[in-house]
Amino acid sequence: MDELARIAPLRERVSAWRRQGLGIALVPTMGNLHEGHIRLVEQAHGAADRVIVSIFVNPMQFGPKEDFAAYPRTPVEDRRLLAQAQTELLFQPEVAEIYPDGHQHSTVVDVPELSSVLCGAFRPGHFAGVATVVAKLLNIVQPDIALFGEKDYQQLLIIRRLVGDLCMPIEVRGMPTTRAADGLALSSRNRYLTAEERQVAPRLFAALESARREIESGATYFERIEQSGMQNLIDAGFRPDYFAVRQSHDLQPVQDAAAEIRVLAAARLGRARLIDNVKVTRPARA
Ligand code: PAJ
Repeated sequence: MDELARIAPLRERVSAWRRQGLGIALVPTMGNLHEGHIRLVEQAHGAADRVIVSIFVNPMQFGPKEDFAAYPRTPVEDRRLLAQAQTELLFQPEVAEIYPDGHQHSTVVDVPELSSVLCGAFRPGHFAGVATVVAKLLNIVQPDIALFGEKDYQQLLIIRRLVGDLCMPIEVRGMPTTRAADGLALSSRNRYLTAEERQVAPRLFAALESARREIESGATYFERIEQSGMQNLIDAGFRPDYFAVRQSHDLQPVQDAAAEIRVLAAARLGRARLIDNVKVTRPARA
């Protein structure tokens, strides 16, 4: 596996591949890789001839009181996992390569509406930071396809939207959430959990699943389901930010009886803020 930290040589490598007629996939990450990331890389291999993984802990998407400095960085293990997954190229730039004038002075890519609900309401500026860095990475690499996880469902929608709005000729593919055997969605932030909290953590997915089953059985009292989801999480020892039943396409409360539905939640447990979501398959209506 080759490794590059600068934009110019990365572009040369990509151009050489393009001249050979090869298709290129990009998997953007912040490192501290786990099985969920590696599944994205494996899928990327099925979708393109060359796979580029970026590792960049993006300061612009962390709030002033968030965990940018403490975010787990495990470069040796990441490199090993990526090489094992047959990644062709690792792009691992320094902050100054991506934000030469500091991210505070960067042009901002802001996807309205989608960025202000759910996690956006609790992490002001977060999704502008995500949208900006993803737009930059997509412009740097110019892949044919970029892969993202449904674990971060709101992020996936925002990226789809920015790629469409900015007319980028790139396919955005969403991949299902990789989970531990007990249901907990894999996440770099799971390592903030104590052994005791790790035992409690799967109850986030369990609460989402219970809401999903209720809606699939025909329930339409979504507000009540949200309230009992919140209570469920509080009783388990979480400090929930939200537990929401939303339309999949715009993350608004369900207004359209035919809309696809997702149940999404974010909750703090000890030092970790965990997020997860599930897709609801609605009962067929007569
Ligand atoms: P990061 O949290 O490292 O995640 C990188 C990619 O892996 C994202 O698309 C995320 O949705 C996906 N992912 C993480 N855990 C997953 C799981 N359990 N199952 C499936 N996919 C999973 O998300 C980011 O980084 C950043 O915001 C980024 C998009 C790189 C921009 O900085």
